[in-house]
Amino acid sequence: MENEIDEVEKKIVLFGFGIYKTTRLVTLNGKVALITGGASGIGETTARLFVENGAFVVIADLQDELGHQVVASIGVERASYRHCDVRDEKQVEETVAYTVEKYGSLDILFSNAGILGARNGILELDMEAFDNTMAVNVRGVAVTMKYSARAMVEKKIRGSIICTASVSACIASDGPHGYTTSKHALIGLVRSVCSELGTYGIRVNSISPFGIATPLACAVSNRAPSTIEDHFSAVSNLKGIVLKTQHIAEAALFLASDESAFVSGQNLVVDGGFSVVKHTF
Ligand SMILES: NC(=O)c1ccc[n+]([C@@H]2O[C@H](COP(=O)([O-])OP(=O)(O)OC[C@H]3O[C@@H](n4cnc5c(N)ncnc54)[C@H](O)[C@@H]3O)[C@@H](O)[C@H]2O)c1
Repeated sequence: MENEIDEVEKKIVLFGFGIYKTTRLVTLNGKVALITGGASGIGETTARLFVENGAFVVIADLQDELGHQVVASIGVERASYRHCDVRDEKQVEETVAYTVEKYGSLDILFSNAGILGARNGILELDMEAFDNTMAVNVRGVAVTMKYSARAMVEKKIRGSIICTASVSACIASDGPHGYTTSKHALIGLVRSVCSELGTYGIRVNSISPFGIATPLACAVSNRAPSTIEDHFSAVSNLKGIVLKTQHIAEAALFLASDESAFVSGQNLVVDGGFSVVKHTF
């Protein structure tokens, strides 16, 4: 493993006073993170932010070409790509083993891979599609927790496990039943596993984003990212700001770092208040 980064230099321009250099400590100095669904969207942005903050990352995804491109743009000295379908237990086991072998540790799991699934209503529910959504969004997260937690316990690492849930874990909408069901189930999984892994000093949390114009969201109606953002902004509670993948990556950074050392079993909802208000009056 190469030398760890201690701090990041930042340049601040103060009007009329020239350029001043400040430093800020990087929060994941030398930590090793496994990120599922890291080839695109929230996972990709989080991989970049983790590396900027001193981590080594393994990106695990189905989209091999995209995954390799992301790694090349981050830099092969701090990131690597593994093909891994989270529905396949063997592939997950091998991906965790690869991570530990390559970087000597596993400190952070960002179990983020997810799909929206079929949109049929309950009267026409496609049971195969429903099973597939549960296989990726719930079973797939459980199996990544299983092997990552084993690696952490074995090496006595006080790790951080973070899952990507959704605002659909807090409230129902007109989204797919399988998706809403799976994300609600994920909150139960996080709480249950938090209860067990606390003994080992391992923290387990989730993040629940509001709508973001990633490929997952854009595919729903085959619309351009800007159109999707306009839609989410129109129905959002918090005005004057558009939710981006960077906002979720910052939440993941907080939960991955020692800044959240006593936070476990929580669902950090990043939705601008959408799920707790109803504008009726
Ligand atoms: N975009 C949103 O509006 C939104 C809102 C709330 C929650 N989320 C959640 O965020 C997470 C990331 O989604 P995103 O919005 O960045 O979408 P995305 O499509 O950009 O990224 C999802 C990634 O997961 C990968 N993936 C899918 N199935 C997989 C499998 N079986 N094994 C491994 N990787 C697999 C995809 O290839 C893709 O790279 C998902 O869990 C999603 O449910 C997204």
